[in-house]
Amino acid sequence: MEQRILGKTGRNVSIVGLGTWQLGADWGNVDPAQAQAILAASVEAGVNFFDTADVYGDGKSEQAIGKFLADNPGLDITVATKMGRRVDQKPEHYTLANFRQWVDRSRKNLGTDTLDLVQLHCPPTPVYSNAEVYDALDTLVSEGAIRNYGVSVERTDEALEAIRHEGTASVQIILNAFRLKPLDEVLPAAKAANVGIIARVPLASGLLSGKYTKETSFAENDHRNYNRNGDSFDVGETFSGVDYELGLKAVAEFQQIVPAGASTAQAAIAWIAAQDGVTTVIPGARNVEQAAANAAAASASVSEDFDGGVRWIYDHYFRDAIHPRW
Ligand SMILES: NC(=O)c1ccc[n+]([C@@H]2O[C@H](COP(=O)([O-])OP(=O)(O)OC[C@H]3O[C@@H](n4cnc5c(N)ncnc54)[C@H](OP(=O)(O)O)[C@@H]3O)[C@@H](O)[C@H]2O)c1
Repeated sequence: MEQRILGKTGRNVSIVGLGTWQLGADWGNVDPAQAQAILAASVEAGVNFFDTADVYGDGKSEQAIGKFLADNPGLDITVATKMGRRVDQKPEHYTLANFRQWVDRSRKNLGTDTLDLVQLHCPPTPVYSNAEVYDALDTLVSEGAIRNYGVSVERTDEALEAIRHEGTASVQIILNAFRLKPLDEVLPAAKAANVGIIARVPLASGLLSGKYTKETSFAENDHRNYNRNGDSFDVGETFSGVDYELGLKAVAEFQQIVPAGASTAQAAIAWIAAQDGVTTVIPGARNVEQAAANAAAASASVSEDFDGGVRWIYDHYFRDAIHPRW
C-alpha cells in the first residue's frame, strides 16, 4: 500500500490506517479473538498505522494492540494513542504529572517503553494555546517516554492553533464527504508546517457505507444510539454531526457518483486520501471483511468529476449547518 510520511514524526505510514475505537467499546460488542483478527487482516492488507486511545474500553483497545504486537514481533507498525479523557475535561488537568501517569499506563497496555505518538484527546480549547502543555509534552519526549506528540481536535480553529506550536507532529481531525471544512485552511497550514494529518470518522460513523436505512437500529451500548444528540461527547463524533435522515438522503446521492469498481465506503475513503495534505485515513472496522475492504480502498482512483460531485453534495446538504460549527 502507498505510504506517506506522517509529518514531523518522520515515519512512513500507510495511507489507510485502522481506527480501533471499535476494539474497545461504544460500538456494540467486539470479542477479543475478533479484535485480533481485525488487526491481522489490516496488516495483511498493508496497513501499518493503528489509532487508539487510553479510554477506548478503558484500555481494552490498547491492550488488544499490545497483544497483537507481542504475538507478531518485528512488524513495523506505528501506533498512535491518545490521552486526556480519563479525568473531567478541565484545562488544569493537563499537567506533566498527569501526562506521566497516563503515558505510563499506555506504555504498559501497549507493551512498549516508548510510545510512537501520543495525541491530546480533544481537550478543552484553552489547552491548545497553553505553552506549558507543550513544554510538558517536550519533557516526555526528552525523557524517552514518547517519540512524538500531536493533537486530536474537534474544530478547525483548534487544529490551526496546535499547528502553530513547533513540537506538534500531527493533527487528527474529522474529514469526510460530509465534513469539508478542514480543506479550507487546516490542510494547507499543516502541509506548510510539516504536520501530518490523520483523517478520522471517514465514513461518518458508517453512514457513508450506504448500508443504513431509516429503520436501522443500533445497540444500546453503541454511541450511534446513545450519543445521537451529543449527550455523552461532542455530537460531531456521531454520524459526523449530520442529521441522520438528511445523511441518508445525501448518501443516496453519493452512491450515484461512486466510481465503478469501488464500494460506497471505499469511494468515501479514497476521496479523503486523495486530498492534498492528508497523510492517512483511519476507518474503524467491526469485522475482518470491513478491515480488508477499507485497506483495499487505498488503490481506488478518484476522478475530478467525483471530487466535484462530493463538493456539490456537501454544499447542497450540509455546508450551512456544518461549516460554522466545526
Ligand atoms: N476524538 C477522537 O480522537 C476520535 C473520535 C472518533 C473516532 N476516532 C478514531 O477514528 C477512527 C474512525 O472513526 P469512527 O470509527 O468513529 O468512524 P468511521 O470510521 O467513519 O465508521 C466506522 C463504522 O463504519 C462501518 N464500516 C466500516 N467499514 C465498513 C465497510 N467497509 N463497509 C461497511 N461499513 C463499514 C462500521 O459500522 P457498523 O458498526 O455499523 O458495521 C464501523 O463501525 C476510530 O476508530 C478512532 O480510532 C477518534
